[in-house]
Amino acid sequence: MRTEEARPVRLKDYRPPDWLVETVELDVSLDSTATPVRAALTLRPNGSGAAPAPLVLDGDALNLRALKLDGAALPPEQFVATPDRLTIAQPPQRRFRLEIETVVDPSANTQLSGLYRSGAIYCTQCEAEGFRRITYFPDRPDVMAVYTTRIEAEKAEAPVLLANGNLVRSGDVPGTTRHFAVWHDPFPKPSYLFALVGGNLACVEDRFRTMSGREVTLRIYVEQGKERRCLYAMDALKRAMRWDETAFGREYDLDIFMIVAVSDFNMGAMENKGLNIFNDKYILASSETATDTDFERIEAVVAHEYFHNWTGNRITCRDWFQLCLKEGLTVFRDQEFSADQRSRAVERIGDVRGLRTHQFVEDAGPLAHPVRPAVYHEINNFYTATVYEKGAELVRMLRVLLGAENFRKGMDLYFSRHDGQAATVEQFVQCFADVSSTDLTQFMLWYSQAGTPEVVATGSYDARAKSYRLELAQSIPPTPGQPSKQPMVVPLAVSLVGREGRDLPLKLDDGRTVERGVLTLTKSVETFVFADVAEQPVASLNRGFSAPIKLSANLSADDLRFLAAHDADPFNRWQALQTLATRLLLDNTAASRASRPARHDPGLLDALGATLADGALEPAFVALALTLPGEAEIAREIGHDVDPDAVFAARAALRAAVGEYLAGPLFDHYRRLSESGPYRPDAASAGRRMLRNTCLDLLVATQQPEAISLAARQYQAADNMTDRMAALSALSLCDVPERAAALDDFYARYADDPLIVDKWLTLQATVPEPATLDRVRALTSHRAFSFANPNRVRALIHAFALANQKEFNRADGAGYDFIVETVLALDPKNPQLAARLVSALKNWRMLEPVRRERAEAALRRVATAPSLSPDVGDIVRRALAKD
Ligand code: PHE
Ligand code: ZN
Repeated sequence: MRTEEARPVRLKDYRPPDWLVETVELDVSLDSTATPVRAALTLRPNGSGAAPAPLVLDGDALNLRALKLDGAALPPEQFVATPDRLTIAQPPQRRFRLEIETVVDPSANTQLSGLYRSGAIYCTQCEAEGFRRITYFPDRPDVMAVYTTRIEAEKAEAPVLLANGNLVRSGDVPGTTRHFAVWHDPFPKPSYLFALVGGNLACVEDRFRTMSGREVTLRIYVEQGKERRCLYAMDALKRAMRWDETAFGREYDLDIFMIVAVSDFNMGAMENKGLNIFNDKYILASSETATDTDFERIEAVVAHEYFHNWTGNRITCRDWFQLCLKEGLTVFRDQEFSADQRSRAVERIGDVRGLRTHQFVEDAGPLAHPVRPAVYHEINNFYTATVYEKGAELVRMLRVLLGAENFRKGMDLYFSRHDGQAATVEQFVQCFADVSSTDLTQFMLWYSQAGTPEVVATGSYDARAKSYRLELAQSIPPTPGQPSKQPMVVPLAVSLVGREGRDLPLKLDDGRTVERGVLTLTKSVETFVFADVAEQPVASLNRGFSAPIKLSANLSADDLRFLAAHDADPFNRWQALQTLATRLLLDNTAASRASRPARHDPGLLDALGATLADGALEPAFVALALTLPGEAEIAREIGHDVDPDAVFAARAALRAAVGEYLAGPLFDHYRRLSESGPYRPDAASAGRRMLRNTCLDLLVATQQPEAISLAARQYQAADNMTDRMAALSALSLCDVPERAAALDDFYARYADDPLIVDKWLTLQATVPEPATLDRVRALTSHRAFSFANPNRVRALIHAFALANQKEFNRADGAGYDFIVETVLALDPKNPQLAARLVSALKNWRMLEPVRRERAEAALRRVATAPSLSPDVGDIVRRALAKD
């Protein structure tokens, strides 16, 4: 158990390390319950060293067996070793060699941090603070060392032995049934990027020729028999490697790049140098087992981890406060990659939907924190949508502000100036300031101020003066610890759209020019007056979602329908429809609560119909346009006194209304879009399937027997997982006999495939009916379920808490009680997973009073439970804090 001494950790307290580590030699002899770890570190004092510095190494649940300094056993009075610290009070103030022997139990490691077992495979996870669970070490990212790793294991149990870098030697251990491998990584790296793997793994191999002509061996290791399901990931890897060369000039640097897929993993994947370790969910795919969305995620995650080789590994973070330096930047890079591989507009809309559902919701509640936090109690709790997704938005804003060319120059400078270093956000931003001679001081507020800025835009046209006046006012709501905020730099891509749908020339009346169509708001209130505006325009604001803000503009329903039909910016065409739908959903949620009749909006239905009928639009775009904002997002828009039943009812009614009103064209599209020929996972085919399945979903929302049998038929006839799942998921929302039959059939077909059974668990957890909670409880005892596997827990329990707003937020509080029980049961085993689950309660304050009280009581029950992990303790304390 980790202690909470030295916590909280504050950014302002950063001090460089007293000791540096030049080299690490590890010798790990894999054994299921007692793995000896011998570490030899070359240490040297850092800098001038005015006062002699003690040596304090981090540990976590460690067990010291032996300690030597420069080859001689250190007398017991010269050091103190506890499970979480090794202190040598008076080490020699010069370079020396420290040999540490610990012993760890991989089988008992249920936290999945440090050295653990996933099934029969030995693997490690060291980010953020897992290396200290293997050996005593200055476990902080600004200590970068060169690692040599010797792994030894039973040949039969672990024929494959891997670590970072290049293989230098391997062979049998004479006189035993064991063998060994020695790996050397020439690139200095922080301990969180260390990895080793041992097991009986199959391997798929390929090659890649880099832009300078070097040959790199690519290997993906998976469970025996699953080789064929790695081919898409391998293809994605090669495309990512090529893309990083062309888009950023970044070449791979080792002779081998390996990926290992394991079934038990707390997160998506990990970018260990030369040896990425993946949750197998983000590697394994075939047309029969994975949906188009799975393929898309695999492509993105493989690319993300690969891109970390430069943004994260070659240039790493000085300390964990700088997490967004690698994560926000790498998410930005993987989003750009996907946009280039697929459709830019569709990618952007998808990313913004994700941002709004996760990050905006986080920003609106008690767990809100800046992209670069100033304080943390438990760093594991900061792998958040804010650090990742909002972090990516800040990088994108730099590009909007400076233009693509200066942006690329800034990135080039960052790579050359900081290669091999542990850097900070300031150093990153300084590169962009330097190449563009721009003062980015105010921009830094995006990193330090939490909360989603709200921008109110008021436009008016003066027909006589032929001018258009745009008043912009920004405000940032208070967030924990930050009651008042300063105005930020908001880059707003804008256009004035004329009657014909053309963008009118933008000319400010004070002679300033609008560069690249971007207005930069820097004050609380600012007015821009456009001159020579020949006709009354409609303003298209925040095009492409140029800034991650909440925008409200004085646009009428007519204006929005006009933009939906004519805006040259596809994002804003989509946004216009979303805004219309959101307005209606907010009204109807309020009406439902007040038992008033719902409002109808034929204009919205017609606009959706026109979008569906527009043959010039990409199918995936049309599908997104027909998809209504989600319940979590509507709840966040309402903001307080939320009744999730009313939100659900309003949204369900609108889906049904769309399905009824557009039944004819939806059926037509459904028929017309049927694919012939074999399944292909490319974006265009996936887009057609997406539109077809969206049509089906809207038709089924009407609950008409005809639509239901269409879905039942599609379920049976499908020759790929995308269509089968889409039909099943449409059916799963209806209380009809076809549903149970199809769910049983699905389980019977795929019972042997855990990743597919996860889909089955999720579907059942997301049925919006009162019986669901009991069903979910019952499923926790199903033989396919296990609390020990994070994917199972996420598929069933997280899905219930996050994707079934109605049943999780049952008015009787039973949904909260279930989460509390689960969290308390999980916490002693896997605190990271438990902490993520308890975060589902974070938005309790925006609920209506009855549910609010029950959710708060649930959080308090967790908070007062004995011996909470630092992970869960931190979340519940922040969730309940009053400020
Ligand atoms: N660094 C991983 C990523 O690529 C995420 C991760 C964090 C994985 C912590 C494991 C543990 O985003
Ligand atoms: Zn990452």
